[in-house]
Amino acid sequence: MFRVFFISFFLSLVNGSDIPTVKDGAMELKMIHIVWRHGDRSPTTTFKADPFQEDAWKFGGGGWGQLSPLGMYQHLNLGKKLRNRYVNAVNSTYRFLPAVYDQKTIYVRSTGINRTLISATSNMLGMYGQNGYGNTAGTDFPDALGWPPGFVPIPIHTVDYDSDHIGNMDSVCPRREWLWNLAQQSDEMKEWRNSEAVSSVIDKLTSLVNETWSLEDFWIVPDALFIEQIYYNDTLRKKNAWYSDDFYNQIVAVNDQIYMFQYGIFNKTVTMQNMNIGLELLKVRSGPLMNDMVDRIKKKSDCTYGTNLTDCNWINGLKYFVYSAHDETVYAVLVALGIERFAIIPHGYPLYSAAVSVEYWRNTTDNADYFKLVYHKQSGDDFTVMTSEIEGCVGEYCSMNVLEQIAKKLKPDQPIDQWCLVTESSSSISISISILIFFATFFNHFLL
Ligand SMILES: *[C@@H]1O[C@H](CO)[C@@H](O)[C@H](O)[C@H]1NC(C)=O
Ligand SMILES: *[C@@H]1O[C@H](CO)[C@@H](O)[C@H](O)[C@H]1NC(C)=O
Ligand SMILES: *[C@@H]1O[C@H](CO)[C@@H](O)[C@H](O)[C@H]1NC(C)=O
Ligand SMILES: *[C@@H]1O[C@H](CO)[C@@H](O)[C@H](O)[C@H]1NC(C)=O
Ligand SMILES: *[C@@H]1O[C@H](CO)[C@@H](O)[C@H](O)[C@H]1NC(C)=O
Ligand SMILES: *[C@@H]1O[C@H](CO)[C@@H](O)[C@H](O)[C@H]1NC(C)=O
Ligand SMILES: *[C@@H]1O[C@H](CO)[C@@H](O)[C@H](O)[C@H]1NC(C)=O
Repeated sequence: MFRVFFISFFLSLVNGSDIPTVKDGAMELKMIHIVWRHGDRSPTTTFKADPFQEDAWKFGGGGWGQLSPLGMYQHLNLGKKLRNRYVNAVNSTYRFLPAVYDQKTIYVRSTGINRTLISATSNMLGMYGQNGYGNTAGTDFPDALGWPPGFVPIPIHTVDYDSDHIGNMDSVCPRREWLWNLAQQSDEMKEWRNSEAVSSVIDKLTSLVNETWSLEDFWIVPDALFIEQIYYNDTLRKKNAWYSDDFYNQIVAVNDQIYMFQYGIFNKTVTMQNMNIGLELLKVRSGPLMNDMVDRIKKKSDCTYGTNLTDCNWINGLKYFVYSAHDETVYAVLVALGIERFAIIPHGYPLYSAAVSVEYWRNTTDNADYFKLVYHKQSGDDFTVMTSEIEGCVGEYCSMNVLEQIAKKLKPDQPIDQWCLVTESSSSISISISILIFFATFFNHFLL
């Protein structure tokens, strides 16, 4: 056993990045996209009457929204787990990524804030930065006193936070706000908001802490209370004397439903201004990410099989693409795939270090592309294959067509930075276009 391990370890050292192709029967792993949530953090803000304000949070640099040592640890662990799955898996099917960091194979994209950046760093430390991983002093890191042996820094790329429509669901996007305002005028949302069960919870909270919130800001309360239970469980109950676990759970239930509405999940199709509001909301939230991913898979496929050999340099080497992001980003993927109900229980949103991995596989018998969907629900959990929960998928592998269709359905009608500025329905655009065409034709005839 040990000898087998030793030999394969030795071979992987000799081969360097020339990892033998990874096969499961006819199936060959080609590329992995992974979207994860950052780890445990301080609240990003709280309600005004909360005794736990910004100065209550000291870790991770201190203040609002910072990754805690627990959060760093959660990602260190996830990184080690990912190494076990994709680098030194017992099942050789998954021995896919090189043992030692190879710049051509990995790209890490984080949203542009501290906790996701540091989560990515912590994760890479677990995946590629430990002593005993085969990293060589003088080649992979400096052979110098003071450098932690085995630690290899991995580049974490980022983009401007406010215009990051792929990773940040709070990017500046007037269209999303506009659609959300329409959604709130729908019968379903109005009935829900005015129901006794919901208004009693919101009204009670308002009277207890003397504050009101828009529905999209309501998360601030359950989020702060969730974290205070972790760090100040006893004092929370003393200082916020109204707090009870039962009331907290009611607040969470209200918030979960708000989340679902924000991602366009309605019981009945909401049609306003000739638009399917649910679909339009999801197009703005999930569309950019799903299409970014699927376009990259398509590019990889084209370059591997010679369908289109333009600009193949980078993608040919690429095996592992990471989005280090937020609960809402992970949620955006789950909702797009229609599997959020399985992946987020018992909370309505993905937990710390939740991760969804989209594995792109090629079937060497029928020469078609497939994917496998794998979910890491929270720190400490294993990976669960979820593919068969997706509509149109049976078994572990699913035709890439299913993913392509989903991306196509959610594709914003224009490049997202332009689409975000469109705050009128396409039907009114097409009406104005037809009027324009009418007049153009009319004047054409007239002039002729
Ligand atoms: C390896 O993993 C693949 C894919 O999950 C599975 O089909 C195969 O049975 C596994 N092989 C072993 C030896 O466990
Ligand atoms: C991140 O860190 C910078 C500088 O250390 C700080 O000014 C900023 O408030 C932090 N931002 C977030 C969103 O964590
Ligand atoms: C409640 O909040 C309002 C507005 O912030 C403030 O004017 C008022 O004094 C508060 N009332 C109590 C009882 O704290
Ligand atoms: C906080 O305390 C309550 C009641 O004492 C307990 O049920 C709960 O598990 C605790 N929560 C955490 C996160 O430790
Ligand atoms: C949607 O339908 C389910 C099942 O009937 C029900 O439990 C839920 O309350 C409904 N949600 C809304 C917002 O009406
Ligand atoms: C081939 O790939 C290039 C670069 O990705 C792209 O711009 C072009 O549209 C593709 N051509 C075809 C025919 O798909
Ligand atoms: C791969 O293709 C072959 C031939 O079409 C098919 O029999 C097999 O089921 C495919 N494998 C998977 C996992 O879909």
